[in-house]
Parts: sequence; structure tokens; C-alpha cells
Amino acid sequence: MKNVLITGGAGFIGSHVVRLFVNTYPEYKIVNLDALTYAGNLENLSDVDGSSNYTFEKVNILDVEELERVFSEHEITDVIHLAAESHVDRSIHSPLDFVHTNIVGTVNLLNTAKKHWANNFSDKLFYHVSTDEVYGALGATGFFTETTPYHPNSPYSASKAASDHFVRAYGETYDLPFVISNCSNNYGPYHFPEKLIPLFINNIINKKPLPVYGDGLYTRDWLFVKDHATAIDRVFHKGKRGDTYNIGGFNEWKNIDLVKLLCSQMDEKLGNQNGTSEQLITYIKDRPGHDRRYAIDATKINQELGWKPSVTFEEGLAETIDWYLENTGWLNNVTSGAYQQYYSNMYTNR
Ligand code: NAD
Ligand code: DAU
Repeated sequence: MKNVLITGGAGFIGSHVVRLFVNTYPEYKIVNLDALTYAGNLENLSDVDGSSNYTFEKVNILDVEELERVFSEHEITDVIHLAAESHVDRSIHSPLDFVHTNIVGTVNLLNTAKKHWANNFSDKLFYHVSTDEVYGALGATGFFTETTPYHPNSPYSASKAASDHFVRAYGETYDLPFVISNCSNNYGPYHFPEKLIPLFINNIINKKPLPVYGDGLYTRDWLFVKDHATAIDRVFHKGKRGDTYNIGGFNEWKNIDLVKLLCSQMDEKLGNQNGTSEQLITYIKDRPGHDRRYAIDATKINQELGWKPSVTFEEGLAETIDWYLENTGWLNNVTSGAYQQYYSNMYTNR
């Protein structure tokens, strides 16, 4: 019997992980712990809400007393930790928020797990979900492997790197059983429209400019979020304790090429003349410290755990666009209110 605590389950990736676990493992009790920040939204999980093996706890990982209550009440046996401040641009404006949630919050969870599982670590697991950004930036060639030295360049990636180090240190120092995965850029349904793909989909729908940073030649390795969720499932169940796994799509795109593909798929789906959305592309001032290229070598998870992505980028992107076009209510809800202020701070007064 497993009682699995999934933190950040109301966010983008977390909601896909919660859905997969609730539906695949009816014998597990899944506890979704989330503070519901601007990025957390219970609408993301309306289809699993009410499932008998699912519980939601509105708790901030900075609140140690509440964490201890949740661990005791639900007799937590495993943690899959996704809760985080996740947007690089926000980290440039408010680095301390990232120190608090990503570093202090992670250490709070580690302490709570260690205390609650006191000296009985058999069949326990602390799974920390992290990012490829901890490795820094690549030049034109090469890939991040699990042994690439950490070289974080943004406050976001520095805070995630610190959290990875704390997890590993708790393994070494206290024997806490852990596993870490470092994943590339995700895309898909329920992605908050502050990140490139959903922001540009929303702007194309609303005929607003598409703000490409710098020369647009930055490269990211994109993975469909449902494939990340299956990778997390695989690492959770089969990953070697104390190990790290890189997760990626073998799917590199320069931003401008990705944006052009997105524009042409959107034009087709919206019945626009081809080329209409591309006219919205606007080059704007670059992101400070912008990492030039990320690319993951996912050989280890492929060879050791048999995982590989299930969809091509064109298929995943088409499913993503369809989802946003069918869920304009969701998009309108998350872009009302505070989002408008965020958008004008980030883009109008850049
Ligand atoms: P997200 O911003 O969409 O969701 C984060 C969730 O964490 C939200 O539901 C939010 O309410 C919750 N949260 C934030 N602060 C909290 C706090 N103090 N206490 C409790 N809950 C809190 O993020 P995401 O894109 O789904 O990323 C999830 C995880 O995966 C993060 O750890 C991120 O670093 C990592 N990751 C993301 C990507 C990506 O491309 N999005 C890639 C690799 C790794
Ligand atoms: O690599 C994994 C990381 O991917 C995750 O750890 C982060 O949580 C996630 O946000 C993502 O980080 P990026 O900074 O790569 O994602 P973002 O969508 O913000 O930007 C993708 C690229 O697009 C990047 O080169 C910056 C650029 N960009 C982004 C925005 C929001 C633009 O040109 N214009 C924009 O408006």
C-alpha cells in the first residue's frame, strides 16, 4: 500500500502526474499538496476530483506544521516533489520567492519526510522533479548527460540546483532514499500562458504581438507533458535509488522555427490565410542571462528503464493547440485579473 504525496499537483506538469497516478494505480492513495499560487489551478484536475483514491490538501511547503499534519494524517510513504516557482522571467524580477519555495520549501519537505519515516526508510522514496537548466547553457553541439557539472545561470535554475544538492545531501548524510530527474522543456494542455508556447497560442487567438526575445535563435529541447508524466511514473517505480535520470524529447527547436511552425498550425486550425499569424512576430529585448541552448541526452532512462517519448512534436503540438482552442474558458480564467498586470510589467514596460 502506497500513500503518495504529490506536491505541486495543481500546476501544469503536476496535474498530468496526479491524473496518471490516480487513474493507473487505484490501490494507491494519492494526496495532492499545493498552495494554489497563480500557477496552481484545481480546474486542471476537475476530471479526477471525486475519485476515491484522491485527496487535495491546500498547503504551502513553507508551512512545516501543516506538512507534518499531512504526513501523519495520510501516513505518507512516498513523495513526488514538483511544487516550485517555475518561470525564469519571474525569477529575474523576484529571486527571493524562488529561494523560499524552491530551496527552503524543499528542505522543509526533506525534514518532514526524514522525521516522519524515522529510521524506517524501507519502501520509502523521496522523488525530486528537477530541470535541465541546472546544467547551464550548451554551445552549438553536445548534450547534457547525468554527469554534466551543474552551472545554473538564472535565479530559477540556481534555486533548482540548490534543491537538487539538498536532496542528494540528505541521501548521503541521513540515508534518505531519493531519486532525481532533470527534464527539458515541457509543453501541452494546462500550461500556464506565461511560458513560450501557451503565451503565443493565446496571443495568436487574440491577434496580439508574439514577443520573441533577442535574435530568436535560442534552442530548447521540447517534450510533450504526458510523456514527462510517463517518465516520472517509470523513474518512481523502477529508478535506482540515489540515481539521477535525464528526461528529454530528442527534439531541439530554435525558438523562431518553433514559433513559425506554431503560426502555420494555428493559421490552418483557425482557417486563416497561411502567413497571417507570422505577421504578429515581434523581436523584443532579450532575457538577461538567456541560456543559448539546452539539449538532453536521454540515453540512460531509455536504456535502463525502457522509456521513450510516445508522440512526435508535430502530433503533440497539434493536440496542444486543439486543447487550447477547445478550452478558451480555461484560458480566459487564467488570463484575467493578475495576469494582465504581469503581462504589462513583463512586456509593455520591458
Ligand atoms: P507550475 O508553475 O505550472 O506549477 C507549480 C505548482 O506548484 C503550482 O500548482 C503552484 O501552486 C505550486 N506551488 C508553488 N509554490 C508553492 C508552495 N510554496 N507550496 C506549495 N505549492 C506551491 O510548474 P510546472 O511547469 O508544472 O513545473 C513543475 C516542476 O517541474 C517544477 O519543479 C519545475 O522546476 C519542474 N520542471 C518543469 C519543466 C517545464 O518545462 N515546465 C521542465 C523540467 C522541470
Ligand atoms: O528546460 C526546462 C525549463 O523549461 C523548466 O525548468 C522551466 O520551468 C520552464 O519554464 C522552461 O524554461 P524556459 O525559460 O526555457 O521556458 P520559456 O517558455 O520561458 O522560454 C522558452 C524559450 O522562449 C526561451 O528561449 C525564452 C523564449 N521566450 C519566452 C517567452 C515567455 C521568448 O522568446 N518570448 C517569450 O515571451
